Amino acid sequence: MNTSTQLSPLRKTTKHEQAEALAVEQAKHFGIDPNSEYGMSLVELATTLYKANNKTHDLWAITVEGLSDLDKSDRIAWFNAKRFLSFQIAKILDNLQNPMRATYQSIATNNGNFASKGAYPIFDNVAAIFSASPVITRTATYLFACTEWIEDAFNGKEPLHDIYSRLLNPTSIALANHMVDLEAGERANQYLAWNFNSGMAAIDGLLSHLLGYEDIVLASRNIYGGSYQLLEDWFAKPSNLNVAVEWVDGYSGDDFAKRLDEVAEKYADRIANGKRIYVYLESPCNPHGYVLDVAAISYASHTRGWDVIVDSTVGTPMLHPVLKRDDVMERPDYVIHSYTKELAGSGTTTAGVVIGRNETMFIPKGESVPFTKPNGDEVTIEWNNSLFWNVYYIKGAFLDADKAFEVLNGMKTYEMRVVQKTINTLTLAKIFDAHPDINVSCPALPDSDNYLHCQKNMYLGLPAALFTIDMEGNGNRAPINREVFKQFFDMLEPAIGMQVSLGQTNTVALCPALTTHSELSDSALSEAGIKPTTMRLSIGLEDPRMFIAHIIEAATLSIDNKHPEFSQSFPCAEQIDDIYLQTYTQVHDKIVRNQPSFNTLRR
Ligand SMILES: Cc1ncc(COP(=O)(O)O)c(C=O)c1O
Repeated sequence: MNTSTQLSPLRKTTKHEQAEALAVEQAKHFGIDPNSEYGMSLVELATTLYKANNKTHDLWAITVEGLSDLDKSDRIAWFNAKRFLSFQIAKILDNLQNPMRATYQSIATNNGNFASKGAYPIFDNVAAIFSASPVITRTATYLFACTEWIEDAFNGKEPLHDIYSRLLNPTSIALANHMVDLEAGERANQYLAWNFNSGMAAIDGLLSHLLGYEDIVLASRNIYGGSYQLLEDWFAKPSNLNVAVEWVDGYSGDDFAKRLDEVAEKYADRIANGKRIYVYLESPCNPHGYVLDVAAISYASHTRGWDVIVDSTVGTPMLHPVLKRDDVMERPDYVIHSYTKELAGSGTTTAGVVIGRNETMFIPKGESVPFTKPNGDEVTIEWNNSLFWNVYYIKGAFLDADKAFEVLNGMKTYEMRVVQKTINTLTLAKIFDAHPDINVSCPALPDSDNYLHCQKNMYLGLPAALFTIDMEGNGNRAPINREVFKQFFDMLEPAIGMQVSLGQTNTVALCPALTTHSELSDSALSEAGIKPTTMRLSIGLEDPRMFIAHIIEAATLSIDNKHPEFSQSFPCAEQIDDIYLQTYTQVHDKIVRNQPSFNTLRR
């Protein structure tokens, strides 16, 4: 956009370029005689604003050019100088409220039934710019400046103007921007996020955007039951998109490369007709918390030209930093989170997000942009093939302001929660692992076949707060009787919540076969490694030893009736304290040693 005409109410049609001429034109547009005393004052102010806008763009250009060469003290100086300019500009707006309010009152208070209009909030919203938390913008609609600006807003070319909160809402945008910063770190300017009303809405939104009729999805075996159902029961349904859904048992790049080649061969006809393969991953995955080698899988998929989606909900950006890799080939194309879980943290709202490269997420209406795919292929993306216009603008699953605010609030503490939960997870996994009748599936245990992937892909090799145990016997140990297991499970409250979901402050347990994964057939359950007594534990913030104390009592009342040694077979009290102490100190030690040094922080 032409910066000199950007502020004009006739920005699209004016013939003027100079600030003063634009200001005179503006006065006339609103019925003001520019030669009147009021008109002259208005024109002078508007002229100054046009010039100020040009200067702001100059500052922007200098910032973009110079930022990377600055040392830290200059960056701090630049930031605070601009921060103060924001207050100055806002102060002008605030001062402007006085004459505007007086004029408004002279019109409004004379008219009947004015209460029904409600307050005219432009007067009072200015100070909200400086609210220390993002403002909850609870409105369906927004005030428009003038027709030519609205036209730009409808074409996605005027970010100041939100139109309708189902599409864009400032609180939700604040969350999306923050999420991109957390997930992409120093590459945040390459990525954009769109928030949805739930994690499932995010998954559905992205798949609806990408998948066309008879495309192919190659998915990792262990995914959330709802995602499985969406793929198999909706996308794969012949009367819907007839998408071919194929599964991969395995965690490595090689496992996926092999399956990709098999699937490409199996669907050679479809691919010859332009159909595409999409790789859908969940890592760490439901219910065992197993980790996929997302970097190697992305590499293998990109080499073959296929896009990669990863649901990274369980890992969070802290534990599972999939976008923070230098090699773009190793980065998935899209990252999904259900905010409902660890990020919001308290289990009081549902929300979700999709993060992707700018060019794939939004392009102003009517435009197209060149895009280099991870494997170097050059393509052109048309505006209507960006996620915003293809899905978001048309469908109605955008996140509302109240929920966005709640997620933002929760996210402030998520890293601290993750650390404590990691300690609790490791402690519990080790204690259960020491019991001869309990099988533990937790990628952080060195004897897990997923251990190396956990070490390679998770932050400091730390596990997410999700794992499973079962009592189906092993070696010469008989399975625990199903009836007493049920009795035992029914006695887990109040120590462990019998609830679905994960990532809450409290620890919750469920039997996937009966709940989250009940949509799966018996064979699909067994392929997913889910047994009748598999118990999924989503670990919270409580002292993990409290669960063991409770579990021993519950087992005494139930399992011991058929297996008398069960409750006695946990490690002894001193060992339990010791495991907790050691795990607690080891994890903190690892984390604190991995923090940047003071010299790094000074740079
Ligand atoms: C890994 C994962 N992804 C996505 C979802 C769906 O998120 P939501 O419940 O916010 O729709 C869930 C829900 O449990 C999940 O566990």
